Amino acid sequence: MASLTIRKLDDAIKSYLRLRSAKNGRSVEEEVRVILRDYCEGSPAPTASLTSPSAPTERPAVERANTAGQASVTLIIGGGIAAFKSMELIRRLKERHIDVRCVLTKAAQQFVTPLSASALSHERVYTDLFDPGSEFDAGHIRLARECDLIVVAPATADLMAKMAQGHADDLASAILLAADRPILLAPAMNPLMWNNAATRRNVLQLRRDGIHMIGPSAGEMAESNEAGIGRMSEAIEIAAAAVGILRPPRPRPLAGKRVLITAGPTHEAIDPVRYIANRSSGKQGFAIAAAAQAAGADVTLVSGPVELRDPAGVNVIRVESARDMLHRVEAALPADIAIFAAAVADWRVANEGEQKLKKTAAGMPPLQLVENPDILATISKLKDKRPPLVIGFAAETENLIDNAKAKIARKGCDWIVANDVSPATGVMGGDRNTVHLLTRDGKDISVDDIKVDSWPVMTKEQVATELVAKIAKTVEKNS
Ligand code: C5P
Repeated sequence: MASLTIRKLDDAIKSYLRLRSAKNGRSVEEEVRVILRDYCEGSPAPTASLTSPSAPTERPAVERANTAGQASVTLIIGGGIAAFKSMELIRRLKERHIDVRCVLTKAAQQFVTPLSASALSHERVYTDLFDPGSEFDAGHIRLARECDLIVVAPATADLMAKMAQGHADDLASAILLAADRPILLAPAMNPLMWNNAATRRNVLQLRRDGIHMIGPSAGEMAESNEAGIGRMSEAIEIAAAAVGILRPPRPRPLAGKRVLITAGPTHEAIDPVRYIANRSSGKQGFAIAAAAQAAGADVTLVSGPVELRDPAGVNVIRVESARDMLHRVEAALPADIAIFAAAVADWRVANEGEQKLKKTAAGMPPLQLVENPDILATISKLKDKRPPLVIGFAAETENLIDNAKAKIARKGCDWIVANDVSPATGVMGGDRNTVHLLTRDGKDISVDDIKVDSWPVMTKEQVATELVAKIAKTVEKNS
């Protein structure tokens, strides 16, 4: 008779079996036997929980605590008097929207109880490497990997020695050995232990292994009349160090710079219900606004009518026509960098109807077109308020580079982002773009000396990030 290897089953089935077997206090093999027996007896196991995310009410014993996209920390509490500070650390981490799952060593339980850690973390607490409730599916591996950071506080001399040597004879050391996440230690011990040659060697080794450390600090010890280096850092300091590892500060090369961006099409009214428009989605301009904001800039985005949400932290001004757009752009000056990504309508109707135009026997109403103001050219040619870096876009369907070079000269801008918008490219309204960045250093440069940098096909977000990086480099060079 054929045998069945549970390891080779689908992940969803394995996860369902683990849940069921843990709940029923059986091994996975026993659970499979029960399911098969029930099936043969005519009462098959429910299968809905294999696929329905809402079906299983119980989570695997050590399923990742992170359910709302929050960062999560596995907090290993070692055995030392400083363990009481780790109770506050749980609160400090949770205040920072970090999920915490605690592991208490045997020695830690002499100082604090699993119940307090569980009450503060709102999670089950883990204490035993051989706990059938969590080890039925190698829970220590999950505790080591299904988090964003492991914090050890207090990190005792013994725990650090075990780590440095690679021991794994209890839950805490097994997690630390199996970890593929960053680890932050908050050492706490008697000053003599901290200064002992063995601890010095272990600290050095752990630092070499890429382990983060905070503290210990100097101060009074729990032992009477003893002072020196060995006090665990305060909970608030450890929480700040954890946040620093979880969310490293992003570089903000455009901090303090004002960036003005136009995006989207414009709508030019024919009458109260009709307008001239184009197919621009505004995606590229919005992506640039988001990237500039992420780089620390103070961003104003003047957008024509688009179906896009305001990028976070960006001052968005919604307009309809080219003339509205120009007014709002002028009002938003001065700026350090201006990027004109809008597909502004070249023409508007001179004789806009006050009422809806009617079909008449006389034939089609004559629509007289007049040219719209050119926002890019107007701003590029300003005397006083011209932003130091003005960037235009050239959306072309033929002779892309030559037309873009001529446009730099005609409009007086510094750079042009040229893109082919022939229908076959899918750029208009699509999510990807193939661009060529044309740059000139100084206005007196001849068209032949304009540099052309051709980028591979990228998403509009990637184009935005790349463009903002180039801008940041230039700003840095010129400052
Ligand atoms: O002349 P063309 O429309 O091809 O030029 C494109 C560049 O000029 C884009 O940067 C666009 O935002 C800008 N433009 C403008 N005002 C107009 C027409 C174009 O700012 N009326």
